Amino acid sequence: ETPQPADLIVFGGTGDLSMRKLLPALYHADRDGLLAAETRIIAMSRGGLDDDDFRGKVDAEVRGSVPVDDLATWQRFLTRLHHVTIDIGGQDPTGWARLTAMLAGHEQRARVFYLASPPMTFGPFCREAHRAGLVTPASRVVLEKPLGRDLASAQHINDEVGAIFHERQIFRIDHYLGKETVQNLLVLRFANAFLEPIWNSLWIDHVQITAAETVGTPGRRGYYDHAGALRDMVQNHLLQLLCLVAMEPPARNDRESIRDEKVKVLESLRPIVGGEVDRFTVRGQYTAGVSGDVQVPGYLDEPDNTPPTEASQRVETFAAIRAEVKNWRWAGVPFYLRTGKRMPYRSSEIVVQFKEVPHSIFPGSTPNRLVLRLQPSEGIRLELMAKEPGAGEVALKPVPLSLSFADTFTARVPDAYERLLMDVLAGNPTLFMRRDEVEAAWRWIDPILAEWESQSLLPEPYPAGTAGPAGAHELLARSGRTWHEEDLA
Ligand code: BG6
Repeated sequence: ETPQPADLIVFGGTGDLSMRKLLPALYHADRDGLLAAETRIIAMSRGGLDDDDFRGKVDAEVRGSVPVDDLATWQRFLTRLHHVTIDIGGQDPTGWARLTAMLAGHEQRARVFYLASPPMTFGPFCREAHRAGLVTPASRVVLEKPLGRDLASAQHINDEVGAIFHERQIFRIDHYLGKETVQNLLVLRFANAFLEPIWNSLWIDHVQITAAETVGTPGRRGYYDHAGALRDMVQNHLLQLLCLVAMEPPARNDRESIRDEKVKVLESLRPIVGGEVDRFTVRGQYTAGVSGDVQVPGYLDEPDNTPPTEASQRVETFAAIRAEVKNWRWAGVPFYLRTGKRMPYRSSEIVVQFKEVPHSIFPGSTPNRLVLRLQPSEGIRLELMAKEPGAGEVALKPVPLSLSFADTFTARVPDAYERLLMDVLAGNPTLFMRRDEVEAAWRWIDPILAEWESQSLLPEPYPAGTAGPAGAHELLARSGRTWHEEDLA
C-alpha cells in the first residue's frame, strides 16, 4: 500500500518524549518508506522557535542518538519538520492562526493531533483546536498516558475529549502494546494449538508480571511525586500485559474484539479494598545505593529543580500486587505484578508458572515455566525437565527451549512507538486503549491508592540496586512461592 499524505501535529513537540521516542520512530518509518512525500510533522510548543530553529534542534539532539545510517533520508526528514508556537488557554491566538493557515487546503488528509503533554492540557487543547476549526472528519487525537490520576479525573478528561472527538478518533496510547513480544503473546496463544488447552487454573499455578528498571527518576520529580509506580506503570502497562495473558480468545483480530476481551478481564479483577490492601500490595521507595557499580542517591536526594516535599516522601518507586482474576478460567490463580525503579537489572517479563506434574515418578522434578521476555532482549523461553546424560540414577535438570527474536528474525525490530504511530496514521486503534478499558483499570486501582494515601505509613525503603523491599519477597513467600529470579539465584 502506498502511504497517504498526513499531517502529524505534536503538542509538546520539543519535549522529552518527542525528542527521545517520536522523532526517532518517525525517522525510521521514513527510511522504510512508510511516510508519504507530503507528510508533515508539526511540533507545537511554547518554545518560540521557527522551523529552522526546530530543525537545528532536532538535528543536534536527535541525530546523535538514533542510528542515522542514511543521511539523505535524514536531510529529507528534517524538511518535513515545522514548529508552531502556541499558548494553550492564553490570549495570543497567532499560533492557532498560523497552524490554521498551514493546514488550510489539506482537510482530506489524515490529521493527527498527538498530545505529548500533561493530561490536564488534553481537554483545553481539544476545545481550542475545535474552536479554530481544525478538527476534520479525518482527524485523530492521540493521548499519552497517564490518562488522569484516578477514575474521576480520567472520566473528566474522557468527557472533555469525547465532546470534540468521536471515540473512534481517539487513540489512547500505551506503548507496551506496541512492543513485539506483547503482540507475539497473542500470536503465541491464538495461533498455536498446544497452549490454550492448558492455559487455565487446572495447569497454571500462578503468573508473574515484572517491569524492572535500573534507572532512577533524576529530574522527574515534578511528574513523579504525583504519579508513583502504581499510576506510572501498573494502571497501564502491567494491567495491559495481564489482560493479554488472561483474556479469552477474541472472536476476530479486529479493533473491538480484542478490546472487548481485555475489558472483561479488567472487570473480573477482584477488588482490593480497605484492610486487604496491606495484605495484597507492597510499596517501596529507593534509598541511596549502588547501581551498576555506581553510587547513586536515594529518591529524595535525586538532583532536581524542585526540592523534595511531603509528597516526595510518600511516593512509591516500587509496587507489587497480588491480583486475582475472578472467572472460570483463572479462579484461584494469583497474578503477581511488580515494577520498580533502581532495580538490580532491567528486565520486563511475563512468567507463567505451571503446576507440578500430578504424580511424579522422578525425584527432583520442578514445574514447567514459560517466560516471555520483553526486555532487555525479546524472546520466549519454555523451561522443561530433561534427564541429565549418564548411566545410573536418573537425574533431572530444567533446560530451556529458547527463542531469541534477534537470532531468529534478522529484520530490524521497530520501536513500540514506530508501530503505534503507523497504526494511528492507518487509523487502526486495535493496540490502543478504549475508554472503558482505561476507566475499568482506574476503578481497580483507585481503592488501593485511597488506602495508601490514607495511611501515615511511608513506603518501605529499599537500597538502590536491590530487588525491592522485603515485603515483596514476603508477598509470595506467604504462599510458598518466590519471584522468578530468586529461583535462578
Ligand atoms: C513510561 C513511564 O510509561 O514507561 C516511565 O512513564 C518508564 O517511568 C517507561 O520508565 C518504561 O518504558 P520501557 O519501554 O523502557 O519499559
